[in-house]
Amino acid sequence: MKIQGRTFVISGGASGLGRACAQEICQNGGNAAILDLNEDQGTSTVEELGASQSRFWPCDVTSSESIASAVAGIVEWTETTGKALAGVIPAAGVGIPGLIIDKNYNPLPLSTIDFVMGINLRGTLDLVRQALPHLARAPPDASGSDGERGVIIMVASAAAFEGQMGQVAYAASKGAVAAMTLPMARDLSWFGIRVVTIAPSAFETAMTALMSDKVRRGLEKAMEFPPRPGKPSEFATLARHIIENVMLNGVVIRLDGATRMPSKL
Ligand SMILES: NC(=O)c1ccc[n+]([C@@H]2O[C@H](COP(=O)([O-])OP(=O)(O)OC[C@H]3O[C@@H](n4cnc5c(N)ncnc54)[C@H](O)[C@@H]3O)[C@@H](O)[C@H]2O)c1
Repeated sequence: MKIQGRTFVISGGASGLGRACAQEICQNGGNAAILDLNEDQGTSTVEELGASQSRFWPCDVTSSESIASAVAGIVEWTETTGKALAGVIPAAGVGIPGLIIDKNYNPLPLSTIDFVMGINLRGTLDLVRQALPHLARAPPDASGSDGERGVIIMVASAAAFEGQMGQVAYAASKGAVAAMTLPMARDLSWFGIRVVTIAPSAFETAMTALMSDKVRRGLEKAMEFPPRPGKPSEFATLARHIIENVMLNGVVIRLDGATRMPSKL
């Protein structure tokens, strides 16, 4: 799939990994439709990328109506620009730590579980399902002979495989995203749409900026090579390769420099 002349929808596109993907797509001649809760950062991202190649839709991925209104706007935009929809990167996500039961015998609040699952899992699925009727009708990529229509790049985490203490809810959401990859690729093969999930270890974003120095030092000990957190641009480079390489499908790719998370830091 060529990026040039196509439109990609990115939730969580106003910050971190999603924002880096929007930058990568625009630098390679694509258009980025940015969906995010954070209106200030959404607006400044579009100012940086340029209004001819990017647009921002304020969107809460836990609200189906909010997604529907953004998708309707994006479809209108693609009709104006002539740059057909070619992919979705549902990168909006949150991580709220919490033990399944704390030292005072309080179980993890259901509200925490619902919040994390609502954004990371339900929000991912809802955005993908609402974009699909449009993606599945997009003209196939004329530059190849495979009849490819698009690609979904979901974002899991190392926590899908080795969640740490306090990550039950986050690991549940990311494990589910990883598990959806193959069945979704199978469902979409008839339409020429691929599905790939990236499972990153720690990357330098707003999400990890909140970590204490102790946690940061502990994480560094778990790193092999390179012994540092990933850069959002490194995530975006992989996303670009996934878009461009038609043979990548139905797979979860770890992007972690061989880091394997220990139980606790
Ligand atoms: N940074 C890491 O180390 C790391 C590691 C593994 C996985 N991830 C995953 O990568 C994805 C991106 O995270 P990031 O590190 O770029 O974090 P980030 O905080 O920089 O960006 C996340 C974005 O999602 C948006 N968002 C949150 N809730 C939303 C909602 N309900 N509706 C719409 N937008 C919402 C936020 O406003 C923010 O702009 C997440 O799914 C995260 O779980 C990150």
